[in-house]
Amino acid sequence: MGKKRATLPAGRQVVMSGIRPTGFLHLGNYFGAVRNYVRMQEEFECYFMVADLHSLTTHPDTKELKQNVHRVLSENIACGLDPDRVALYCQSHIHETTELYLYLNMLAYKGELEKTTTFKEKVRQQPDNVNAGLLTYPVLQTADIILHRAKYVPVGKDQEQHLEMARNFVNRFNHRYGEVFPEPQAFNFGEELIKVPSLDGAGKMSKSENQYATLYLSDDDELIRKKVMKAKTDSGPEKTNSPRPDYIQNIFLLMRLVSNSAIITKFETDYNNCSIRYGDMKKQLAEDMVQFITPIREKAEAIRNDEKYLREVMEKGAEKARKSAKATMELVRKALGLNYF
Ligand code: TRP
Repeated sequence: MGKKRATLPAGRQVVMSGIRPTGFLHLGNYFGAVRNYVRMQEEFECYFMVADLHSLTTHPDTKELKQNVHRVLSENIACGLDPDRVALYCQSHIHETTELYLYLNMLAYKGELEKTTTFKEKVRQQPDNVNAGLLTYPVLQTADIILHRAKYVPVGKDQEQHLEMARNFVNRFNHRYGEVFPEPQAFNFGEELIKVPSLDGAGKMSKSENQYATLYLSDDDELIRKKVMKAKTDSGPEKTNSPRPDYIQNIFLLMRLVSNSAIITKFETDYNNCSIRYGDMKKQLAEDMVQFITPIREKAEAIRNDEKYLREVMEKGAEKARKSAKATMELVRKALGLNYF
């Protein structure tokens, strides 16, 4: 089946996405996801949810859950997500989600769930805990999305299959019980999502094994400098206008995200006439990264320390999400025939 890519929609459409409360936000998350959310809040009716229930499928120990939920909320707000404009809420606060999840489970088949790539991956990663929640992870994700009858879902490539499954569940529901839900589809601003290369010259920035290859929004200035200065370089080009090896191109790509164009042009020219000094280039990149990350880190820290504010955010978000959820669930129960008086 062909994947669907949305063109820019007209009017105020509903957007929904979920954020896992595991791990710290890094530069790849910022440019790949969060920046898209921030742009969407201007034009769409947005629901952004911390997927705390989903995290139970892989992290049954909940000792650090509260801390992680607070962190992910703080970091997203620090990046520009505005709790007054969007519904920013926790999955577990909206009980309608779990009700809808139950109904959808009757429309999801064991065979298709077992074939899901993410499920097979988790089976390999945690063979001792292949729980039913893992198997039905895409069903819960579908419930998250269609609870608000959302059409647009800002997610990365790794979520395409889950969205395809969501469309299947939606079509089965609509076919059997009547049109209640629109088909959700992946949507992001820009043709291709920006890939943020990792600092070790291999792949993109992610929660990688090499802790020096990824810049986190919580890294302090010294750590940022240390990581950038460790990026791989060589003794420089020997012929004018040589092609750039990947690891050098990556440094230019990172510069493009945070440095001004005069600086980039200077280093491009230096590269082309073989006078480039990679030490200077990395120092410049490090300073520009510090300038970029520091205000976000400081803002996130201040928010994280303000539990009262976080509580207000979650309450406000839940209230908005509940309103939309209630309206949908009335339609759902009616369509299902669960109204006996
Ligand atoms: N599965 C998503 C991820 O791993 C998180 C998620 C949960 C989500 N519910 C969602 C994404 C609803 C989009 C819509 O990142």
